[in-house]
Amino acid sequence: MKNNILLIGFMGVGKSTIGRMLCKNNQDKFFLDTDDLIESFYGDTIANIFASHSEEYFRKLEYRVASWLSLNMNNSVIATGGGFYKSYNMKEIGKVIYLKSEFENIIKRLKYESDFTKEVDKRPLLKDLDNAKKLYNSRVLEYQEIADETIEVDNLSLEKITSKLR
Ligand code: S3P
Repeated sequence: MKNNILLIGFMGVGKSTIGRMLCKNNQDKFFLDTDDLIESFYGDTIANIFASHSEEYFRKLEYRVASWLSLNMNNSVIATGGGFYKSYNMKEIGKVIYLKSEFENIIKRLKYESDFTKEVDKRPLLKDLDNAKKLYNSRVLEYQEIADETIEVDNLSLEKITSKLR
């Protein structure tokens, strides 16, 4: 079994922030983000890939990145795009941790703790909040089902969340 940690969960829940923090003072683990890998492997932003190709094309890129990770990576904390878990058997890549938050809390955090327009511009599937909520509802049980562990992040500080993962 690979010793990677895969962070899964809905857009904006804090997978990258938490993964980065977990690796910051940890010489043993590398931090990776699947959206960043797609952008550097394919030389374009996620927003442009959706706009100039299609979601289906983006999902194929996710599959290729997932299979690359399963073949090549170890000792990593990997923040995954919100739909990445559908692309591959996550267990072949590592231990799966679901970061769970209520939809309304995710949107609240994005609105008040960051630049909401910038966050939405990066994420085509967050543009229409009604559709995003439907997407959230369709995924919430699936995240839970494939996860080895679920961490409810609402009301927990970043320090508390990372300490649960150590
Ligand atoms: C997506 C989530 C995004 C990104 C893409 C699609 C999704 O990643 O992969 O826009 O399907 O939920 P984040 O979860 O990091 O925002």
